[in-house]
Amino acid sequence: MLPENTKSSLISQIEAAYTSAPNYPHEEAIRNASLVAMQFMLAAKANRLDSCPMGGFDADQFTEAFNVPPRYIPVMLIAIGKAAVPARPSARLPIAKTIVWNGF
Ligand SMILES: Cc1cc2nc3c(=O)[nH]c(=O)nc-3n(C[C@H](O)[C@H](O)[C@H](O)COP(=O)(O)O)c2cc1C
Repeated sequence: MLPENTKSSLISQIEAAYTSAPNYPHEEAIRNASLVAMQFMLAAKANRLDSCPMGGFDADQFTEAFNVPPRYIPVMLIAIGKAAVPARPSARLPIAKTIVWNGF
């Protein structure tokens, strides 16, 4: 759907970004996977399923057990299914404590 010049400009920008700093691909993978993970859990909830994100796992063992190709970085595991028992009560900080406007 992109005009040709927009497409080539975007490709150039992406290629430049991915080669600009050695950590960028790794950081971007985590950033993007985290957005997907949250979206995945919201979609699960919308479909009456429950989920639990887990950062406490052995990435090396996971990679080996699941034959993860080297181009992928394990970011988190997400258990998904029907909750066996209702989740314990939880709370969130008020929005005013989690958003910083125009700098600290
Ligand atoms: C970044 C992150 C890492 C987590 N890692 C684990 C984990 O390793 N094992 C686990 O059982 N739950 C893990 N959780 C899930 C939390 O323990 C908790 O179940 C979840 O955040 C929902 O509870 P809450 O509404 O109180 O936040 C993780 C959650 C987050 C956001």
